[in-house]
Amino acid sequence: MKSFARLGLSLLALASASIASAETPTALTVQADKPGPVIDRQIFGQFAEHLGQGIYGGIWVGKDSKIPNVRGIRSDVVAALRAIHVPNVRWPGGCFADEYHWRWGVGPQDKRRQTLNASWGNVIEPNSFGTDEYFDFLEQIGSDAYVSVNIGSGSPEEAADWLEYMTADKPTTLARERAANGHPAPYKVKFLGLGNENWGCGGAMSADHYVEEMKRFAHYTRNLNFEQEKGPDKMKRLAVGWDSGKSDYTEEVMKAWHDKVWSWDIDGLSLHNYVVGGWPPHLKSLGFGENEYAIALEEAFRMDGMLVKQSGIMDKYDPAKKVALAVDEWGAWLAPNPGSNPGFLQQQNSLRDAILASVNLNIFMRHADRVKMANIAQMINVLQSMILTDGPKMVLTPTYHVYRLYLPFQDATYVPVKFDAGDYKFQALTMPRLDAVAARDKAGKLWLAVTNIDPNRAAEIAVAVEGARAGTVSGQVLTAASVGAVNTFDAPSTVVPKPISGTVSNGTAHLTLPPKSVAVVALN
Ligand code: AHR
Repeated sequence: MKSFARLGLSLLALASASIASAETPTALTVQADKPGPVIDRQIFGQFAEHLGQGIYGGIWVGKDSKIPNVRGIRSDVVAALRAIHVPNVRWPGGCFADEYHWRWGVGPQDKRRQTLNASWGNVIEPNSFGTDEYFDFLEQIGSDAYVSVNIGSGSPEEAADWLEYMTADKPTTLARERAANGHPAPYKVKFLGLGNENWGCGGAMSADHYVEEMKRFAHYTRNLNFEQEKGPDKMKRLAVGWDSGKSDYTEEVMKAWHDKVWSWDIDGLSLHNYVVGGWPPHLKSLGFGENEYAIALEEAFRMDGMLVKQSGIMDKYDPAKKVALAVDEWGAWLAPNPGSNPGFLQQQNSLRDAILASVNLNIFMRHADRVKMANIAQMINVLQSMILTDGPKMVLTPTYHVYRLYLPFQDATYVPVKFDAGDYKFQALTMPRLDAVAARDKAGKLWLAVTNIDPNRAAEIAVAVEGARAGTVSGQVLTAASVGAVNTFDAPSTVVPKPISGTVSNGTAHLTLPPKSVAVVALN
């Protein structure tokens, strides 16, 4: 009886497989003749906070460490980050930024003040990684600075002094102190964050209170690197925006900006939004099934609605889109690893998270006219990270590989794609089955990123390029045996990109996307 049942099931499986392969391919039309805005490479930015092992252990191991390092910064991590062309690193927080006092982190290492990281785990903060180490790290990985100043517990005077230390190109006292610490040339602060979540951990300020503080900080945080200020690379200031639905920060900040006087300005506004599956975060990062996959992915797609809403508010005051939206904290915030300090926000990173990253990056690119920056939280060992380390060991996560696959999209020109995504359903949840974006890089090459959300069914796609005929289609695909597959120190290559190519007939490219996969292909 049992074997009959099994035979029946197998026949059913065979039948549905043949139905699946006989299914009409999903038609994608790449509208290459309707180019959109440039996709700012800053959309692929990172966030590194003094939190758990995000900095200590993840980046900074100290000059005397046995782990190979350059001036205390671990070399394996630098090499991995260089390979994904990190455009900017937001630092020092996060909540930590509004209790950070920069003076504690400059000068001789043995004189640095030992403080307590009260935001994250109540551990000793040695301040060994401070301003000069941060800029050294940026130089090693080839990235721009995004420094957040302390509005919550700091003063405009303290922030102005920090700017003087970092940027003064004339021999002021603080510029000379920087030179004495080994850096005569001014640093380039490309982005300056005016506070962090000041509706919450940054001082629980009402929106109008924040606006008054922000205006003072915007004025007094002068960039004294005048060479930089003269050019197109002028420092950009970003204010705090929306608080996951509760506050009216976006409205108040934009209203103030619209009516501003000459003495202050901002170039952007932040939005923070995590996929959590309900608070406190409880979705597992390891050993979960389709249920937790579907919950996380369905939530990830909601980013689009948030951007539409926030852009709508911004459009009222800024129809010309001069003020950018910076999604400077986003990603999956999952249950902490069992046995870890819950204040360290340590979690594994699976194929699910990689797919979630592709969905979010695609949404940002579709909003490239307003979204000019995004920073995944966080770069190493914290939340949805690129890299995990444990002592001398390092492993690249599936999310890292999405950033690597998406390299052609940095500063490329957005190209619309028309397609009917279909549905992926799991129990009461429904979401698109497919997602796709296209762009033309500076060399003129056309790229397509396609995600097959469905964890059970392969997707056949037929890609037509308007105004052109496809010649070849090939690239790389990221997938694995299960949505919960992870890379570990012992098995680092479970989820890594593999080559993928399709066929072309009559100028249309045909590709089969495995279930639960992210592919990036060149359309030649
Ligand atoms: O990324 C972790 C924390 O999440 C940040 O410190 C804070 O800004 C946000 O609430």
